[in-house]
Amino acid sequence: MSALPFPDWMRAVQTRIETTLSRLLPLDEAIPTRLHQAMRYASLSGGKRVRPLLAFAAGELTYSPPERLEIVSCAVELIHAYSLVHDDLPCMDDDVLRRGRPTCHVEYDEPTALLVGDSLQSFAFELLAREDLGRPEHQLEMLRLLAHASGSCGMAGGQAIDLAAVGHSLNQPELELMHALKTGALIRAAVMLGALCGEPLTDEAFTALDRFSKRAGLLFQVVDDILDCTASTATLGKTAGKDAAAEKPTYVSLMGLERAREFADDLREQALTSLALFGARGQRLIELTDFITHRKF
Ligand code: IPE
Ligand code: IPE
Ligand code: MG
Ligand code: MG
Ligand code: MG
Repeated sequence: MSALPFPDWMRAVQTRIETTLSRLLPLDEAIPTRLHQAMRYASLSGGKRVRPLLAFAAGELTYSPPERLEIVSCAVELIHAYSLVHDDLPCMDDDVLRRGRPTCHVEYDEPTALLVGDSLQSFAFELLAREDLGRPEHQLEMLRLLAHASGSCGMAGGQAIDLAAVGHSLNQPELELMHALKTGALIRAAVMLGALCGEPLTDEAFTALDRFSKRAGLLFQVVDDILDCTASTATLGKTAGKDAAAEKPTYVSLMGLERAREFADDLREQALTSLALFGARGQRLIELTDFITHRKF
């Protein structure tokens, strides 16, 4: 796969993730059927699969076997899908559109959406614990990393700060912390889990990759903030203008659109600089950084 042009490589990974998730998730017919149908609805047929792409790209640095990358990618993507289902609930962002379709609680109902989130999260850890992912100490570290990235010191904690900040203005360090947790933590986990599927990294390489993942995670959410107020609902497949309407602090509300764009460019530069050490093996991560920066949805 590493010889493919970037768009073909991206499609190949996306297809692989769709197929693997479909194979691993409980079938629609499995009891309780409504819950399993809703879990599949929330996880399949949609999304850019950026976190799996990052895991596969980071895996190239450590010669990671694709079968392992598939599993860790699915685990991170399941946590991400769960976070979106809960993010859209009426008690959170109260959104009706996700990936061009009705949100999970609209298509099903709120209690089901709540349980979908619970179940996708558990399933992610079941996969990481049960599949063969190489060295046991690496596998344990993957479990620890993903758990930390998902919880109160990661994604869920960032969501708590996001909700508490409605109607308030945050300064730049506060906003950076919120973004680093609510979105950055899972992006970092995707990169680190991908790398952990293969040969051990030197301390120097680990530090460089960690720096890359943090810059890329922040970049991802800054671009999400920019798209929220510049792209259309039809292009995004989710409700545009939602953050501004809800008086959420974002990079655009903090610094204005132009400076937010400049900040995204700075973050891109910093992310790319962190990859210098990896030479040609970092090519996919470089391409993905550009994709994250210039994406339209
Ligand atoms: C949207 O994530 C929510 C954020 C964390 C900013 P994505 O933009 O990765 O959503 P999908 O998976 O492609 O739908
Ligand atoms: C969502 O951030 C972050 C998580 C789901 C953890 P947003 O609320 O900005 O995401 P969108 O814009 O609804 O996708
Ligand atoms: Mg939100
Ligand atoms: Mg939202
Ligand atoms: Mg958003």
